[in-house]
Amino acid sequence: MQRPVTSKPRRKLVVGNWKMHGSLAALTVLGEINAVAKRAHRVEVAIAVPATLITAAWQAASAVKIGAQEIHAVDQGPHTGCLSASMIKDAGGGFSIIGHSECRQAQQQTDSDILEKALAARRHGLSVILCVGENLEMRERGRGEAFVMDQLEACVPADADGDWFSVAYEPIWAIGTGLSASMDDITQMHAGMRAMCRAHLGAAGDRIRLLYGGSVSSANASQVLSIAHVDGVLVSGASLSAETFLPIIAAA
Ligand code: PGA
Repeated sequence: MQRPVTSKPRRKLVVGNWKMHGSLAALTVLGEINAVAKRAHRVEVAIAVPATLITAAWQAASAVKIGAQEIHAVDQGPHTGCLSASMIKDAGGGFSIIGHSECRQAQQQTDSDILEKALAARRHGLSVILCVGENLEMRERGRGEAFVMDQLEACVPADADGDWFSVAYEPIWAIGTGLSASMDDITQMHAGMRAMCRAHLGAAGDRIRLLYGGSVSSANASQVLSIAHVDGVLVSGASLSAETFLPIIAAA
């Protein structure tokens, strides 16, 4: 029997994705973020650093969850250049982004590949931020929401729960472009995603944190975070400096 839907508030989650930026020297930024995260009890702060920095970042930042930007679906084998969930865990990572549109595109990843990555993360005790989002063509054809719901249906494991699984809605056309989705678009998409999570997972669907990503900045973060069912943000460009990232943590 399913437990009743809970109305317990979900703790806000602010995630930085450093993509292919950063160096050991850049960890001073992480120190500044960590100092603020220590005092921000109502917000969970996480940074997906380049894999080369996971161990040093994890050692340097006690209040920021450190993770990876991508994992392979299998645990080991002949996959030159790839990293498994167990390797990320071994290096000190606590989570991984999966299904980012840049990885989906560059590596022609399918939804079923991404589901396998989620299951691998689960096996090795990593939490997951699953990215979904439509491209401009889908949106212009009025297929954006249906496309995102199909991605969710295919990529969310049956045992997903809020303690290890979050979803980030990142419309591809809003990533790195300065063009954030409108408040109405985000409201509608997040309501749809919540309904989908509930239908798919029962009460657990209410505990999954749903983030928004795509040109989040200090200028729009408060407004985005005030939308129903927006439980956090996934931020790349603005997460690279303390000056632009700290106001986003403050907004949460
Ligand atoms: P952006 O990227 O914040 O630079 O738009 C978001 C992302 O790719 O996760």
